[in-house]
Amino acid sequence: MRQRVLLSVPHMSGAEQPYVQQAFSSNWLSTVGPNLTAFEEAMGHRFGVAALALSSGTAAIHLGLRLLGVGLADEVFCPTLTFVATANPIRYLGAEPVFLDSNGDTWNVDPELLARALKDRRRKGRLPRAVIIVHLFGQCADMDPILKTCREHQIPVLEDAAEALGASYKGRPAGTMGDVGVFSFNGNKIITTTGGGMLVSRNPDWIGRARFWSTQARDPGIAYEHSEVGFNYRMSNVLAGIGRGQLEVLDLRVLQRRAVAFRYRDAFRDLPGISPMPQAPYGLHTNWLSCFLIEEERFGCSRDDLIRRLDGSNIESRPVWKPMHMQRLFAGCDRYGGEVAEDLFRRGICLPSSSSLSPQDQFYVIGQVRAAANARSLEVEYAGVTSPLAT
Ligand SMILES: Cc1ncc(COP(=O)(O)O)c(C=O)c1O
Repeated sequence: MRQRVLLSVPHMSGAEQPYVQQAFSSNWLSTVGPNLTAFEEAMGHRFGVAALALSSGTAAIHLGLRLLGVGLADEVFCPTLTFVATANPIRYLGAEPVFLDSNGDTWNVDPELLARALKDRRRKGRLPRAVIIVHLFGQCADMDPILKTCREHQIPVLEDAAEALGASYKGRPAGTMGDVGVFSFNGNKIITTTGGGMLVSRNPDWIGRARFWSTQARDPGIAYEHSEVGFNYRMSNVLAGIGRGQLEVLDLRVLQRRAVAFRYRDAFRDLPGISPMPQAPYGLHTNWLSCFLIEEERFGCSRDDLIRRLDGSNIESRPVWKPMHMQRLFAGCDRYGGEVAEDLFRRGICLPSSSSLSPQDQFYVIGQVRAAANARSLEVEYAGVTSPLAT
């Protein structure tokens, strides 16, 4: 049996090991040390922001929302089409999400819908405390109109760029356009520290504040005194060493992910009923995951059948995120629209997208997708041939 082709796996470059080795040989094996400083400096330098390395992207969203003042009984606008880690930290803070639909051109939050929703909230006298914008699957949301609307209403923006490190919008890097930005180095992301995240902001004081919270909020002095709630959210110096090495190959990983996506796109060009996630003209889409929409009637089988068939051929694929407003966890939450996200969820599939995916494995995946498409048309042809003979 051939080895399973997985959705998105870690891809080390070799540059990580000397940094990890340094951590061991110098015994910097906890949440302080030179790798942490260097990793944060490298990210800060590359993106023109202050940076804080944390144990996960989820932790970064939690601290980021706290910096924006989100607290008990507040509301936070959040895209419905996202991974649950975007929305969970809203609840950690005792606040409630209000979900926003996507637009079909980018799959990200619809800027016009956001403008209408904020107007509606203002009319009702209940503006959200913050707006979270997600850059889905490696593609930036249309940030100019989004930021303009949020500024008009003086609502701060948290950019969840967990899936979009390396992407850009009109030349500006994902994660640097809002008041705070978040990256993830989870094992399935474009670069990884096995697990980890980063909180970034142009405001270094905010990052200092979050740094304080991330290490149990210990007040200055040698005694263990505390006047605020803190968390144990810091990244380890060992993992920051992996991050340093991975960051050196980020641009290469972006090229590799894009090459995978475009190889699929070209290979399916002649197939009816399968279309790639749109590439918005305003920026660089990393294509962290290669996503497609399946139109059952034209393609020949449903999205779910395709996932099942690929699984039978030892290939991992996944549906596009299930929208938050469809989750039991968030039943009863307010929302604006949702039908576009529901449709993308019903028809969307993510195919194996690792930057290390070999051409042989990708051709195997392509062959299996094509076979699934052809299976139904062969059945239809066969039925057409046999029925006249049978009568
Ligand atoms: C959109 C989005 N936000 C947040 C996260 C959370 O990141 P982490 O897994 O590092 O906590 C992820 C991925 O895991 C994600 O896809």
